[in-house]
Amino acid sequence: MRTRSRGRRLIGLALLALVASAILSACGTSPALTDPQGPVARAESNIWWIIFTICVVIFVGVTAVLLYSVFRFRARPNSPPPRQLHGNTRLEIAWTIAPTILLFLILGLTISTMFGPLVQPADPNTITVTALGHQWWFEFQYPNEHIVTADELHVPTGTVIHVDLYSDNVIHGFWVPQLAGKVDIIPGHNNSLWFKADTAGTYRGECTEFCGAQHAHMDFIVKAESPAAYAAWVASQQQGPAAPGAGTAAERGMGVFQHNGCTACHVIGTPPSGAPLIGPNLTHFGSRSLIAGGVLDNNTTNLPLWIHDAQAIKPDVDMPSFNGSSPGYTALTPSQLSDLVAYLESLK
Ligand code: CUA
Repeated sequence: MRTRSRGRRLIGLALLALVASAILSACGTSPALTDPQGPVARAESNIWWIIFTICVVIFVGVTAVLLYSVFRFRARPNSPPPRQLHGNTRLEIAWTIAPTILLFLILGLTISTMFGPLVQPADPNTITVTALGHQWWFEFQYPNEHIVTADELHVPTGTVIHVDLYSDNVIHGFWVPQLAGKVDIIPGHNNSLWFKADTAGTYRGECTEFCGAQHAHMDFIVKAESPAAYAAWVASQQQGPAAPGAGTAAERGMGVFQHNGCTACHVIGTPPSGAPLIGPNLTHFGSRSLIAGGVLDNNTTNLPLWIHDAQAIKPDVDMPSFNGSSPGYTALTPSQLSDLVAYLESLK
């Protein structure tokens, strides 16, 4: 008797946790498929709602019939043996045909979405970007604007954005639930997608294919801005790197950057043509809001922690720790570190 009431309490708690997680997951800042902010995501969200509704109706219907049968036809004391049946042809035909019709309905809706709203419309203002999946961060290149950035993709609202997906390492995935998704980034197979942001805002994106130890720490954001704000961003990103003032911490930091191995992976200024860089292009590093593959805010608290011990924050990342623990890289002194941070943050 005791065990049974404890079991029932456990089941009650599990149900409560399930309901609570379903309700609470709608709060917070997680991107939601059900909150689309552009035509592509809206088409995908509509399909999702239709399938979800069909599934809920079936689940509730089947569960209701099941529960009714369990209680209505349960064994009672002295009840006679039940009538023996050997199938019901009409019923079996019905429950074969009904799911088939439903599945073909879902297939039809999916195909019509794939060849309708998911086909990129012709738009003379289309902006083309390349999203490169690294281990583990996103690089964004604007080939026509000659801009290279990382961790955040800037786009103007109301404009078709064409994204070429490229990887030279492993398979990654590109997904911005509120704008578009989700398409794999496959080495040697150039996928692409398009999206359009209706409203200005910051939309979180994620890598959605397991790509190694830090797959879960491979995020990015899409910053959708008014066309005027986007044009201003493009103009500022097209400038060369800001030169540090004479005698400033930033100027000393530039020396630290040049003499401690940073330039083996990072570029400040024009990227060399040829093979993609190992680390993010830092020409306008100070203008970005995220670092470390989108997992840390870019500020003077996180940046020194990241440079000091990147391997502790993101084990196995290409970025060495500059605390003496990474072979081949010497530890930076506290003043070198703060000068370097001053320099990097000055690169607006
Ligand atoms: Cu890249 Cu997961």
